[in-house]
Amino acid sequence: MADNMVEQIKKLKEEKDVVILAHYYVDGQVQELADYVGDSYYLAKVATKVQEKNILFCGVSFMGESAKLLNPGKKVVMADENADCPMAHMVTVERIAEVRKEYNGDVAVVCYVNSTAEIKAVSDVCVTSSNALRVVKKIPQKNIFFVPDNNLGRYVAQQLPDKHFIFNDGFCHVHKSISKEAVEEAKKARPDALVLTHPECTMDVLEISDFIGSTSEIIDYATASDAKEFIICTEMGVFFELMQKNPDKKFYSVGHRQFCPNMKLVTLDKVLHSLEVMEPEVILPDDIMEKAKLPLEKMLELAE
Ligand code: 13P
Ligand code: SF4
Repeated sequence: MADNMVEQIKKLKEEKDVVILAHYYVDGQVQELADYVGDSYYLAKVATKVQEKNILFCGVSFMGESAKLLNPGKKVVMADENADCPMAHMVTVERIAEVRKEYNGDVAVVCYVNSTAEIKAVSDVCVTSSNALRVVKKIPQKNIFFVPDNNLGRYVAQQLPDKHFIFNDGFCHVHKSISKEAVEEAKKARPDALVLTHPECTMDVLEISDFIGSTSEIIDYATASDAKEFIICTEMGVFFELMQKNPDKKFYSVGHRQFCPNMKLVTLDKVLHSLEVMEPEVILPDDIMEKAKLPLEKMLELAE
């Protein structure tokens, strides 16, 4: 059944001139058939380079929106329109206006890509987990309002003591559920394992980690490492690529909650259905399109 679906997807993709982009958190079967799989930064960059007329995005809404903002001329279709990142909604346009007023405009609003297009439209620059430090370092302003993720913001701030950060309360429930105690338990059970952690985790978990990086960076680190065992502190979807690339190494989770229900809405049958009907399409209002692409383009420029 799955084989049949994969064949149909491949055929339709060719016929309709579609490229499939997938994030490392979606199901392994979907990652396997995608043309490009990566972290948020890689996918945003790839989206600007693909030749196909249409993009089918296997991920959550903000990722499809970013692909559309960077490619206004292409049709971007989601595999599931309900796949949305709760963190993307954890800051408001009003709160950003309030902080700008409070600082008399002398503040840069740095917006993690895990945010809605409306939030990007009122931000100065976007960042992803893999380029946040690089990008914020290049921003001339001393005052940085980092939205929406509190944890990534604090991680970046810790490494840039000369800047003044204003934080927001947003968080990722998946990464927040990974507790320091659970990581310590896992370390006790696997004393030789290295702890590889996503910066969306809380500071107490980052502090006991051997490596901190985006999903791609975690995969690259484990692949290049001489170590044989790893405790992985991010969403379970990365295990697919980790195991594909490292069949001789062992990867352990910290518990059963490292699971993003939104990313897991993306299934093979939905990919096939979206290809058949070429819907749901990402459509954004013209004014948002115009304003929200600027901080994304700025990110691409500064992250180089
Ligand atoms: P990266 O893709 O930057 O590793 O971010 C992970 C994430 O939570 C995406 O939703
Ligand atoms: Fe959002 Fe967290 Fe899911 Fe990523 S893992 S899409 S940040 S809820």
